[in-house]
Amino acid sequence: MSRPYRLLVKNAKQLVLICKNSEKYLTKYGMQNLCVIENGSVVIGSDGLIKAVGPAETIRAQYAEALFDKVIDAAGMCVLPGLVDAHTHPVWAGDRVHEFAMKLAGATYMDVHRAGGGIHFTVEHTRAAPASDLLATLRSRLMRMQRAGTTLVECKSGYGLELQTELKMLEVIEEARRSLPINISATYCGAHAVPKGKTVAEATEDILRVQLPRLKERMSAGTLRVDNIDVFCEQGVFDLSSSRSILQAGKQMGLNINFHGDELHPMNSAQMGAELGALAISHLEEVTDAGIAAMAKAKTAAVLLATTAYILRLPQPRARDMLDAGVIVALGSDFNPNAYCCSMPIVMHLACVNMRMSMPEALAAATINAAYALGRSHTHGSLEVNKHGDLLLLNATRWEHLIYQLGGHQELIRPASLFLCWH
Ligand code: NIG
Ligand code: FE
Repeated sequence: MSRPYRLLVKNAKQLVLICKNSEKYLTKYGMQNLCVIENGSVVIGSDGLIKAVGPAETIRAQYAEALFDKVIDAAGMCVLPGLVDAHTHPVWAGDRVHEFAMKLAGATYMDVHRAGGGIHFTVEHTRAAPASDLLATLRSRLMRMQRAGTTLVECKSGYGLELQTELKMLEVIEEARRSLPINISATYCGAHAVPKGKTVAEATEDILRVQLPRLKERMSAGTLRVDNIDVFCEQGVFDLSSSRSILQAGKQMGLNINFHGDELHPMNSAQMGAELGALAISHLEEVTDAGIAAMAKAKTAAVLLATTAYILRLPQPRARDMLDAGVIVALGSDFNPNAYCCSMPIVMHLACVNMRMSMPEALAAATINAAYALGRSHTHGSLEVNKHGDLLLLNATRWEHLIYQLGGHQELIRPASLFLCWH
């Protein structure tokens, strides 16, 4: 017979709560002053939710060990909330290792895109792939992310660019949501590129008149869950006005606006997103001061993508300016065929070294603020009572080892049997 509580993790050398007052996000000062308990314990109930967190002695006095299905002694270890990856493109077929060689030899991202490669190459392969193949690769990518500490991940469509394949991708994401021990936030990204042979106006029309209405039907019928709408707002892709109309239409359907903006050129995407009440904008390598101010005011999170800037040798996202201005800064891996990285610890390491964030800032950006960017910070992103008991056990006596060590996190994070993610 099962006992009243599922799990006790006791005596953690450091129990990193992140925050403790039900904050929905943290800005600079809060990010720099994370809530950490020395020698702490956490109680998970039979529903997978956190029932108590606090100093080990307090928890010991309140909860007898006989009440638990399982007890883990975390002495000498650290316990953190599961990491949140706020931006990924994990459903696709065909890799682009050949393009990595071209880029190393000097081609830019847009050179490759204009020559019919890049997203177009992936679209061709993804359209041709059976859903079962896409699901098998998605599964192995998500499990690899989980082994590196991710317990909530945003997953985009966007390699179909027409109704049938966009739906196929979203169905595959839905199946992963139902069958894998990882939490998913699904994003429709039909405006990821202008399909070959179409103008921006024709592509926008197709999204507004064909794709979104069909998506709405599927969502109302309960056969597909979609959380966010995304657009690649960029010169030579979707301009400001077509991006605006697509995002607005998505918002009217109840989707959160969460899109790619100001990546390669300053487009005033940040101002436009703030005006529309976007929950998040990603990239922002080329954001202006006015864009930063608008995002701070509107509480639109900035999802900074350290891998992309590094791989494409772009200017680094202006994390320090954003933090100083009060922007809610989050992080994502941007896992995609251009940036093949499943590891949020590596992303945090890059954010610290290249974007000059501190380790506490990077951890807040990869937990509570990334959860905020996905509209999930009421349930994820910190170890607080009533939130999901998704935990990460770190085999180190200081939590900063998660960021300090560059790669090899499979050795540092306790193996899957002890790694916890409750649906
Ligand atoms: O976030 N910039 C647009 N989208 C992706 C890249 C997708 C791809 O190249 O396949 C990004 O970096
Ligand atoms: Fe992206």
